[in-house]
Amino acid sequence: TVLVVDFGAQYAQLIARRVRECHVFSEIVPSTMPAAEMLARRPKAIILSGGPASVYEEGAPAAPEGLFDLGVPTFGICYGHQVMAQALGGTVENSDVAEYGGATIAVTSPGMLFAGLPHEQAVWMSHRDFVSGAPSGFTVTASTDVTPVAGMEDRTRGFFGVQFHPEVLHTEHGMEILRRFLYEGAGCRPNWTMVNIADESIEAVRAQVGGRRAICALSGGVDSAVAAALVQQAIGDQLTCVFVDHGLLRKGEAEQVEKDFVAVTGVNLHVVDAQERFLAALGGVTDPEEKRKIIGREFIRVFEEAAREIVEGGPGTAGPGGGSGRGSGDGAAGASEPVEFLVQGTLYPDVVESGGGTGAANIKSHHNVGGLPEDLQFKLVEPLRTLFKDEVRALGEQLGLPSEIVWRQPFPGPGLGIRIIGAVTRERLDVLREADAIAREELTRAGLDREIWQFPVVLLADVRSVGVQGDGRTYGHPIVLRPVTSEDAMTADWARLPYDVLQRISTRITNEVREINRVTVDITSKPPGTIEWE
Ligand code: XMP
Repeated sequence: TVLVVDFGAQYAQLIARRVRECHVFSEIVPSTMPAAEMLARRPKAIILSGGPASVYEEGAPAAPEGLFDLGVPTFGICYGHQVMAQALGGTVENSDVAEYGGATIAVTSPGMLFAGLPHEQAVWMSHRDFVSGAPSGFTVTASTDVTPVAGMEDRTRGFFGVQFHPEVLHTEHGMEILRRFLYEGAGCRPNWTMVNIADESIEAVRAQVGGRRAICALSGGVDSAVAAALVQQAIGDQLTCVFVDHGLLRKGEAEQVEKDFVAVTGVNLHVVDAQERFLAALGGVTDPEEKRKIIGREFIRVFEEAAREIVEGGPGTAGPGGGSGRGSGDGAAGASEPVEFLVQGTLYPDVVESGGGTGAANIKSHHNVGGLPEDLQFKLVEPLRTLFKDEVRALGEQLGLPSEIVWRQPFPGPGLGIRIIGAVTRERLDVLREADAIAREELTRAGLDREIWQFPVVLLADVRSVGVQGDGRTYGHPIVLRPVTSEDAMTADWARLPYDVLQRISTRITNEVREINRVTVDITSKPPGTIEWE
């Protein structure tokens, strides 16, 4: 493994992803982790990330004591470069001139990181402090007009540092520089591939669960689908999946889970049709947070009931599609066996954000199965907890899941319930489902699925608008198209969909969906708007 020491901000996650793109496994650890604990993880290399602090600030995070005595090749980036310089006896100074954004470095002595690369290179900078003198034993490898030591290395001891951000795409040769550190500087081998990840994860689940039983809630989303498919391959019929059809899904999604997913994976599926129950619970409710609470609460109750039935009833309770599994045969647990494990699609960013990957953290259960009751205690199986979202998608493809599932847009747990502005009714859900299906179909037809992060379609159910259709006056509802681009949903921009695509969506929705006589496009970025309307 390669340890990426997190000095704050979002830099560490991006570095960790880039290392993995070089097919080397990486983990993020907090800068407060003692060096001995880092060594216990037997890292092949350590990378010190950038961070928002100044090494001079009171309480600025420093390198763990003894880090540079571990004998592990270490690469300092930005703040990490400064931390390294300061710890080993170099000098770091505060400057009046900041360098933010694009800059050009001049390679003064190629060393290992820059060997054979152009003398001048475009890089991405984001700093005010700078290293003014490299520690003894180091060679200065690059500089800019304002930064005398933009690169330095001490090959004998395996120490490398750069002031710029090699992990950012704007740094022309960033990936090449990172690869050199990993392969040449640290002797890492590119053996972290999807085939290996799938094999190893399946083995790990087998080792954890053994001959016992597990359940998994399928939401229709990518994460739970990939987690379930993986666990199914590991333990076959010992796994039962529960799918709560709350009636707030998009057109075709329930069928996709009930038919396609089962057909591909052979998973034991227990479907609960809870549409009436959710509609009743949501009756007349217009407040967004209230809707969320109700949907979350009902979901847990329904899941709990299903889990109890499965725990008590055994495979006989498996719903449509149940029993079609191509189970492992040997060791398939009997009906009377208790269910001990709950499979969750927790991803690495959740693990990192809830405690820096130290393992001690309480993991936020972002999937709807949160507060399960005390008497239904499960041990968690989280086969995706070391993976980033794009890696989960690649793993899904490796496991043979259909691309409609693997490349599905993120969809909120409360579903269409929070895309109807006003109270949720069956009729309104049907109207929205039709309009949403048309928008998605046209997006797919235009080949834009992977460019658009999410494309909510929102029904303004409490607003009416006048229109004219077929010589008659109509009094229907407007619908809002909300296509956005984003990296992580924290910020987003409105997507500039081509006019002809918007045109087709508008024409089709007003022609094909009764009740809708007006189509509008939301052109608000996030912030100030959120992606969803509620
Ligand atoms: P906003 O609307 O806050 O959404 O910009 C950011 C991302 O979160 C999704 N979202 C939710 N997901 N339960 C979920 O599981 C929710 O209550 C919820 N609300 C918003 C939203 O679709 C977007 O991807």
